[in-house]
Amino acid sequence: MFRTHTCGDLRLSHIQQEVTLAGWVQRVRDKGAMIWIDLRDRYGMTQLILNENSSENLKSIARSLGREYVVQVSGTVIEREAKNPKMPTGEVELLLSEINILNSSEIPPFTIEDETDGGDELRMKYRYLDLRRNPLKNNLLLRHKLLQTTRKFMDELEFLEIETPYLIKSTPEGARDFVVPSRMHEKQFYALPQSPQTFKQILMVGGYDKYFQIVRCFRDEDLRADRQPEFTQLDCEMAFVHQEDILNTFEGLTRRLFQDVKGITLESFPRMTFADAWKFYGNDKPDTRFDLRIHDLDTLVKGHGFPIFEEAESVVGICATGANSFTRKQIDELTEWVKRPQIGMKGLVYVRFNEDGSLKSSVDKFYSEDVLKTWAEAMNAKPGDLILVLSGASTPVRKAMSELRLEMGTRLGLRNTQEYRPLWVIDFPLLEWDEESARYHAIHHPFTSPKAEDLELLETEPGKVRANAYDLVINGVEIGGGSIRIHDAALQSKMFDLLGFSPEQAQAQFGFLLGAFQYGAPPHGGIALGFDRLCAMFGGTDSIRDYIAFPKNNAGRDMMIDAPSLIEDAQRKELGL
Ligand code: AMO
Repeated sequence: MFRTHTCGDLRLSHIQQEVTLAGWVQRVRDKGAMIWIDLRDRYGMTQLILNENSSENLKSIARSLGREYVVQVSGTVIEREAKNPKMPTGEVELLLSEINILNSSEIPPFTIEDETDGGDELRMKYRYLDLRRNPLKNNLLLRHKLLQTTRKFMDELEFLEIETPYLIKSTPEGARDFVVPSRMHEKQFYALPQSPQTFKQILMVGGYDKYFQIVRCFRDEDLRADRQPEFTQLDCEMAFVHQEDILNTFEGLTRRLFQDVKGITLESFPRMTFADAWKFYGNDKPDTRFDLRIHDLDTLVKGHGFPIFEEAESVVGICATGANSFTRKQIDELTEWVKRPQIGMKGLVYVRFNEDGSLKSSVDKFYSEDVLKTWAEAMNAKPGDLILVLSGASTPVRKAMSELRLEMGTRLGLRNTQEYRPLWVIDFPLLEWDEESARYHAIHHPFTSPKAEDLELLETEPGKVRANAYDLVINGVEIGGGSIRIHDAALQSKMFDLLGFSPEQAQAQFGFLLGAFQYGAPPHGGIALGFDRLCAMFGGTDSIRDYIAFPKNNAGRDMMIDAPSLIEDAQRKELGL
């Protein structure tokens, strides 16, 4: 046997057993008569020991070991004198009788321990070394567990796992496509799927009424902590269902994952309309771990001669609970924060609600305490609170207030990463006017159905039509999104028309789907969850990169294999490029 146990196995129950382990040398501590070696593998760490009675030969082998050497060792399990309660194997150590060096190692460019001195880029270049560290290993274990639990749940519900192709024609999801030149068809390109959207709809026409796939998607878009150019979706589609059936199914999955993987029982998920999310939170993915809702203050603030508010299209406020303790300096800092170009506000008005019940604002010249009281009442403010007010054009001011709300949530410690507040945001608008291209764009995608009660507005006010579209939001992160689809060829053609496709363009790009819809397409709908985001949510961090074994950096590069890269002229010629 190469090894009898792993480095995570040994306990007091193994005392006096002869065992063989294999792994990487994390550290050697040489105290002359005694030498200790920390041996690591995927399962844990075991302390190896050489004592006064060990042979000099063995000791000299031990002294020659460098960090990350690969060894096979044999010995007797003994009880440790100084136990380490922090290590699962911390009650025992292995008294060595044999060391077999399997491979040597260069000195690693950063320390391979829980806390490392390696910067991001360095660790990505040497990803194979970073993968040996516990934090990354634990993330991949978490991902594995989420994957297995998901597959089990979907299978229990009779979803079929079906693979769809990666070399396809572009699907319009709003981002740019990555394209792959075809050698056999000169000057023609495949596109890598942004999602399997059209294929899963075709599967519904094919009669597979419950489909799922854990699938790689590719989008050439600007990268952020929660975006990678290739990422994984749990992609699903169902036929003969209502929107509620889909929401309930995936609420069920999410609850099962939280229960089985984190031992957390979630209440049923509230549903919030897009309109309310925008009104109260200023975005479509509200973080509902804390309140601090946005209030419209126009009627209360206008007519008092304060020019900035008089001229503003919209004046909005939040009541930051307990934030009257903020010093003048902290408030000045917040004012600078809202003035940063990313937020883009000209200033911040505040009202202190003092413990003695008095109200003091930064605009006292224009507003008496009685007027401030009406603001406080409207916002349900209490002594000890701090009211923050922004003004400007209505869309930007709401977005800015949404950011300020989140910032205050952070500063007030209200965004606990171990607390989970999922919800469904529903009734998204179907279309959005794009000034640049002077046409409507589909907010979700062109296959999303309008709400039946809004159908008539399609002719008159397309911008007001609501969609049968929904997002799963947890703690302010969009985890997933989906919709009930159009299954009627005529309505789908009309939709393409509204989106500015000529009938010929629609035919050229989506002829296959329109064709399939001529042959009895069932009513259907689905959803896709961002699997990397789900993992990061379970891990309590923002960055999805840490949950992907081989991610790209923020410039879209794989630092380890150094991609993208130039190709040989011969290869380019062959591809007709
Ligand atoms: P959507 O475009 O909303 O819907 O994507 C679904 C989910 O995928 C995740 N996601 C990403 N994760 C990491 N990096 C990215 N670049 C990235 N882009 C998206 C998000 C998002 O909520 N076909 C539809 C689904 C449907 O209608 O059924 C779709 O792809 O968590």
